[in-house]
Amino acid sequence: MSDEKKLGGLIAGSGRIVAFTGAGISAESGIPTYRGEGGVWHKYDPNVYANINCFLKDPTYYWNYYREVRYPLLKKARPNDAHLALARLEGEGKLSAVITQNVDGLHQEAGSRRVIELHGTTRRIYCMSCGVDYSMDGIFEMLKEKNPPTCTSCGGMLRPAVVFFGEQLPQGALNEAVEEARSCDLMLAIGSSLVVHPAASLPVYAKEGGARLAIINKGETPLDAIADLKIDDAAGAVLPAAL
Ligand code: APR
Repeated sequence: MSDEKKLGGLIAGSGRIVAFTGAGISAESGIPTYRGEGGVWHKYDPNVYANINCFLKDPTYYWNYYREVRYPLLKKARPNDAHLALARLEGEGKLSAVITQNVDGLHQEAGSRRVIELHGTTRRIYCMSCGVDYSMDGIFEMLKEKNPPTCTSCGGMLRPAVVFFGEQLPQGALNEAVEEARSCDLMLAIGSSLVVHPAASLPVYAKEGGARLAIINKGETPLDAIADLKIDDAAGAVLPAAL
């Protein structure tokens, strides 16, 4: 039996599926992963570009990266067949949530309704002093004039609504994610190297709660040994085939 058929069987036999996704699910939408081949962190040191202390000390690095890399990628990216397959599973009443480490908003764009964003989102930027929200396009325009951009209402410092290294995950989202992981009967871990904690502990909680675990990831992960099924292939091909 092919791996896709095996995955299809697991999905058919489950009533409460939870997907846990990482950068690999958006790779086929043109957004590079962090650690895989061509990964963002090979070119941009995360201690400079994604660390809260560095950002607070000198936000210009982040905003340069935003202007030159992040914004153009996000503007172009569209959900791929893997995002769409998960939205379809939710629509059929089989999938209760997508827990994602991604900050690209592509699950919502694909039509997923219950998306738990553990690392926040790059689609929202806000003022750290007065809380006013800015759109991605608005910030991109501001960056043409000045770096770092500042709040047009109060002059305060702006930041993206992402979780930087050195910050806690949002407690509410983490609690919901743990609850979903513990109560599902099948977890699909998709496109994540499963090395960044506490997020990467969620598949372990799912197993401890009695769920089966299927990992769909190009490349090895530290949790392959506890998976009921591991498919080392592209999510955008595997998920639609399994459905
Ligand atoms: N289908 C499935 N897997 C893929 C695909 C694909 N089309 N393309 C790449 N992959 C795999 C890569 O081989 C890699 O193992 O997806 C994985 C992505 O791993 P990471 O780059 O480590 O991304 P992720 O696990 O989401 O990282 C977690 O780390 O830097 C932080 O905050 C960042 O949320 C991120 C977190």
